[in-house]
Amino acid sequence: MRILFLTRSFNGLAQRLYLELTARGHEVSVEFDIADSVSIEAVALYRPDLVIAPFLQRAIPVAIWRDHVCLVVHPGIVGDGGPSSLDWAIQEGERDWGVTVLQAQAGFDAGPVWAAETFAMRAATKSGLYRREVTAAAVTAVLRAVERFGALGAAAPPLDKAGARGRWRPLMRQADRAIDWQRDDTATVLRKLHAADGTPGVLDRLFELPCHLFDARAEPQAPRAAAGSLLARRDEAVLRATVDGAVWIGHVRRADGEPGLKLPTARAFGDAVQRLPAWPAGPGGADGEIRWQTDAGVTELHFDFHNGAMSTAQCQRLQAAVQAALAEPARVLLLCGGSDFWSNGIHLNVIEAADSPADESWRNIVAMDDLAQALIEAEGRIVVAALQGNAGAGGAFLALAADRVWARRGVVLNPHYKNMGNLYGSEYWTYLLPRRLRHATPEAVMGRRLPMSAAQAAQLGLVDEVFDDAGFLPRVRSEARALAASPDLPALLQARHEARRRDEAQRPLAEYRAAELERMRRNFYGFDPSYHIARSNFVRRVAPSWTPRHLALHRRPV
Ligand code: COA
Repeated sequence: MRILFLTRSFNGLAQRLYLELTARGHEVSVEFDIADSVSIEAVALYRPDLVIAPFLQRAIPVAIWRDHVCLVVHPGIVGDGGPSSLDWAIQEGERDWGVTVLQAQAGFDAGPVWAAETFAMRAATKSGLYRREVTAAAVTAVLRAVERFGALGAAAPPLDKAGARGRWRPLMRQADRAIDWQRDDTATVLRKLHAADGTPGVLDRLFELPCHLFDARAEPQAPRAAAGSLLARRDEAVLRATVDGAVWIGHVRRADGEPGLKLPTARAFGDAVQRLPAWPAGPGGADGEIRWQTDAGVTELHFDFHNGAMSTAQCQRLQAAVQAALAEPARVLLLCGGSDFWSNGIHLNVIEAADSPADESWRNIVAMDDLAQALIEAEGRIVVAALQGNAGAGGAFLALAADRVWARRGVVLNPHYKNMGNLYGSEYWTYLLPRRLRHATPEAVMGRRLPMSAAQAAQLGLVDEVFDDAGFLPRVRSEARALAASPDLPALLQARHEARRRDEAQRPLAEYRAAELERMRRNFYGFDPSYHIARSNFVRRVAPSWTPRHLALHRRPV
């Protein structure tokens, strides 16, 4: 089938649906929802069999749904409607939630139901639930709806809505989200913060200034303190007391003056945060964003960075953790990243907020390279990257610095840099990529600019093993332990050592780095400002004014 995606952006859910549908032989073209006239033109140009709206915040024009079946993915249970479905579901403590695929008609979220899926809610942020549970349910529901459309066409009978408990809910406003620090317990505070993460955040005040709060986690060892007071700082987060505990606030967007960028809290408030007492680091990082533990011959290292973005300071802290982990006697180092993202490369928001974004870009990429180098040169260890979450740009190449890459089946990779203003990229990709590729040239991978499923990445050689979504972490843990206990381990370590020595003799790592950084220097300091413009648009979520040609097949020159 020829399927046209009408979507606000090519977000993670749209990327995953794109991969699932194209893997089943359908052709998918994409048009961003920019204006009704542009969407109507896209339909006229592409003449799709079916229109799908994976992520749309405006109604589809009548001129399109009158003549084409348009399936809208709604992140809510049957009968639910409105723009804040997941927000309400999280805030009100729903135990189960779902995704409904509806046919667009007059009235928002009101058309016939083509497919629906439910899932158990998890104590996680809205974006975390969206990236995992909603995306998985949407894939199942959309594939079923497409199958029904393929078999029965537009005449397929809708599903019965009788007994549906969903209802239309209005936009959730800041007044609905407000935290009452004198009353709300930790669970309530977390629910409110999770319901607003990653956008729009909860409007509150820190250091007597208005700001939106994001990236919250509970502190299990919270001391008794006056509710609402700020207690401590750790890394770049601050600890705030609730009536029965305390929560860490990792990121904020200041709301005084110019609309601020979402930044690590210490970065947004500077000295005020530095005056708070430092929270002592627990063993293995305790419950911070970086933590590790060793068991059964495996050191498991988690780096749960908000949005997978890795600033200079985060890269340096992670590198220190890698060194600490390598000092453990365990022979296998399992790099688990975060639950939503493994890594998305350098921290574009922190760079944008710096006095000199070019200088900060440079410092950040150097820190990423140092980290990649520490992994490549880890002596006497097998390093495994376990991708439970998606990885993009430099984050995808950082994973290749490991000896083995194991991925969760539902993970989406974006192993390319060009979408960020034609960035050349570093992280030793010129060394790491060619040695892994089985079927394609490095140029083909880097120039493709499209997402890749874990299965496709495995076919190419970027990923060694793909494991099921359910039980991924326990599975990789047990595989890593088996590797650590394997009688072949000494031979594997010896082979790794020799391969590295051979490679180094052929071309030193330092040469790869210097050549890549020379190109990056041009991106950061050269006359072409594409990277700086792309970054500025990305961090400010500037709506695109056209759909890139690599996505809009119908706009390619014939
Ligand atoms: N730095 C800062 N923030 C980043 C980031 C980065 N490198 N990568 C992603 N994010 C943030 C986004 O701004 C967004 O923030 P929000 O929660 O405030 O909305 C959030 O992470 C999710 O990103 P989004 O783009 O909505 O996710 P996606 O699943 O649709 O797409 C990517 C994933 C990786 C394709 C996309 O985020 C991307 O292109 N990131 C930039 C990668 C990059 O160029 N890195 C620099 C070169 S190494």
